[in-house]
Amino acid sequence: MKWKALIASGGKGTRLRPITHTQNKHLIPIANKPILHYAIEAASAAGIKDVGIVTNADSDEVPRAIGDGSKWGVRITYILQEAPLGLAHVVKIAEDYIGGDNFVFYLGDNMVVGGLNKYLDAFSKSGANCFLTLAKVKDPERFGVPEIKDGMIVRVEEKPKTPRSRYAVAGIYIYDSSIFKAVNDIKPSGRGELEISDAHQYLIDHKYKIGFSEITGWWKDTGKPTDLLEANRLVLENTDPLIESGVEIDAGSDIAGRVVLQKSCKIRNSKVRGPAIIGEGSTIENGYIGPFTSIGAGSYVANSEVEYSIILKGCKIIDAGMRIEGSLLGNDVEIVRADGKPRVQRFMIGDQSRVEVA
Ligand code: G1P
Repeated sequence: MKWKALIASGGKGTRLRPITHTQNKHLIPIANKPILHYAIEAASAAGIKDVGIVTNADSDEVPRAIGDGSKWGVRITYILQEAPLGLAHVVKIAEDYIGGDNFVFYLGDNMVVGGLNKYLDAFSKSGANCFLTLAKVKDPERFGVPEIKDGMIVRVEEKPKTPRSRYAVAGIYIYDSSIFKAVNDIKPSGRGELEISDAHQYLIDHKYKIGFSEITGWWKDTGKPTDLLEANRLVLENTDPLIESGVEIDAGSDIAGRVVLQKSCKIRNSKVRGPAIIGEGSTIENGYIGPFTSIGAGSYVANSEVEYSIILKGCKIIDAGMRIEGSLLGNDVEIVRADGKPRVQRFMIGDQSRVEVA
């Protein structure tokens, strides 16, 4: 049977403000590549040719950024969600697109290493109607949480106050068409959404077969800024070093470890300690770029140190004075030294930004 993939890319991304005031959270780059690319790559690598992407109906940002899928050898169909009515609603509005096919439902802000094939195979072998991937986490109360008895999932609860296991249900689900019975029958939760966990509970209650397997590599839900930094660290750690065309590194510079230098970037009298990636056309001058840092395209870092951070496109960090660490900078952000006396900190910061000063 033919497989399809359904990728969720809607929602408001409120926990990632201010970045998400101007950018869909699924397009925020991890190691200089939009998060959503990783989901499409995973579907394509599993041999899936038909990919439906559910997007917010009031914005064409995702279709404009992603296109028709030919870049990945897949056919992308966009499905518009009129309002953020929950993940089970995302599945519900995709019923016509999915038809009778089996499909993997992939939350576009989730990242997993190791590909989808083993889960698709496990689903097929198990004869399950619904197959969940589970990941052990420190804070299960943030997720859908399964209760497991005698090797079976007997209950799934959404963000329970007292979790019945240490597992999160990760945002990679595999279904046959029975899921549509569930999403068409369940009622909105207290927060007014059709919850995907309620759809799973419906399948359990109606005696459908639920399979599951534990994600053994790493998995990240990139809902919060610290998750993005962690995902960035993990992707960079698994990236091979590469120097693209037109890169200039002068004799006074020192590049060590897993470092990707993208097209035409310039490293002058600077140290870059991988894993790190420096974007196309960026310049690092008298600087230090430390491990787990992504510098977006067209940025300029001079007389400054940056480590364990994600810096988007077109940023300027000049004479920052103190190492920038654990930070997430949006597009075209400037951190520069204030001139003149008295020595002051001067801020021009958009809504819901956060600055920690020493
Ligand atoms: C959603 C689901 C939750 C799941 C999580 C995985 O939560 O509702 O069951 O565990 O994705 O990323 P959200 O991230 O939308 O709060």
